[in-house]
Amino acid sequence: RRQPSRRGSMADVPKDLLERITELEHLFTVDASKLKEVMNHFVKELEKGLSKEGGSIPMNPTWVMDYPDGHEEGTFLALDMGGTNLRVCEIILPKEKGEFEIIQSKYKMPEELKTGNSDELWEYIADCIQQFIEYHHEIEELEDMQEHIPLGFTFSYPATQEYIDHGILQRWTKGFDISGVEGKDVAELFENALKKRKLPIKLSALINDTTGTLIASHYTDETMQIGCIFGTGCNAAYMENVGSVPKIAHYNLPPEMPIAINCEYGAFDNEHVVLPRTPYDVIIDNDSPRPGQQSFEKMIAGLYLGELFRLVLVDLHDNKDCQVFENQDISKLRKAYTLDASFLSMIEEDPFENLSETGDLLQRVLGVKANKPELELCRRLAELIGTRAARLSACGVAAICKKKNIETCHVGADGSVFNKYPHFKARGALALREMLDWPKGTKDKVSILPAEDGSGVGAALIAALTIKRVKEGNL
Ligand code: GLC
Repeated sequence: RRQPSRRGSMADVPKDLLERITELEHLFTVDASKLKEVMNHFVKELEKGLSKEGGSIPMNPTWVMDYPDGHEEGTFLALDMGGTNLRVCEIILPKEKGEFEIIQSKYKMPEELKTGNSDELWEYIADCIQQFIEYHHEIEELEDMQEHIPLGFTFSYPATQEYIDHGILQRWTKGFDISGVEGKDVAELFENALKKRKLPIKLSALINDTTGTLIASHYTDETMQIGCIFGTGCNAAYMENVGSVPKIAHYNLPPEMPIAINCEYGAFDNEHVVLPRTPYDVIIDNDSPRPGQQSFEKMIAGLYLGELFRLVLVDLHDNKDCQVFENQDISKLRKAYTLDASFLSMIEEDPFENLSETGDLLQRVLGVKANKPELELCRRLAELIGTRAARLSACGVAAICKKKNIETCHVGADGSVFNKYPHFKARGALALREMLDWPKGTKDKVSILPAEDGSGVGAALIAALTIKRVKEGNL
């Protein structure tokens, strides 16, 4: 396949469309000075979240009080409830740090469950676990089990935890809207469904995917100090000292003791002070199940990238001065959330100068025939949305580094956008460089690298750490 030369590609774009593209460039471009402004405000908001009064970033203490030392061993189950799939894993951690064994099954989260009710959700989850256990173990083996298998439950939504095996859902994020769960202890709801099935399983720890990512990444690379997810949602976790978390002062723990904090920084700037929101971001927020929440996440996470793209195209079609897809039936494009981030990925990856793959894609998915200028517009728009997402995403990482005075470290990252979206890593790395002022020609001091499986292996490691702490009487 030929590498396209994008230079001069706008030559045959008519003037009015070109003006529109320039407007979009202004709307979606975040320059270095804006990035720094966002980062500086972010640092203050991280601090606020740790204070007694709190702020809009939850900064949830996770009760993960240490990194693994490499001697965690045993058999564990991990349940991963992310955004799209449900995954059940059985993980055997070796005596000495090294290769772990993992078997796993994925179950699709039925779409209707995401807006259903609490009972349906927990019954479905418990059914999946039962299926998994019965498939991988003989009935007699299960009956003979002396001890219950410890389970780490990766529940990737904001939860207030007073203990590690408990967590009150603060609010659903990522488009979920299941009634009867917000404000409740999800560990209890889950355990009730599990009890009915008499399975030899014990919930040991409730964790966030970012915390799992932090712990699993540090297990394989001790320079990893932050765990991030850039996927359907966007968030990070890092180790804080108890003494720097005033809101847990009443526990009277030693100030130098480490504690992992799940930032939940998708909620950054819910008060709209600093983020360069466009009218399209406002529509996404207003039409979401939780308006006013997750402002940062709604501008950058995978769930929303395709929707942003769609909203811009619909706007350009409906605008009489310069119609995109003129006189065509755009009914498919009018349907909210028809496009996902992979649609933008494919456009950004179109290797042909005439953008023929983009043309085929628009025809196949949306039933519209795009001319060359329209294809150029789509390509530029995808680049703008993808670049903005990567650059703003980097602000959260830069802010944690600033807050903790971290000069140099590795950051473990996971999630569909990080792993699959073209140029996301390079664009994010450039933004970090611009924010943290590394001299030209020098190596990156903070590198965001692919993480170890946090929601599986990370959950098992945290379950192991918890059991150790219980044995030592530290809980
Ligand atoms: C959302 C969730 C958060 C999770 C992130 C990535 O922001 O609220 O808990 O870590 O998505 O999955």
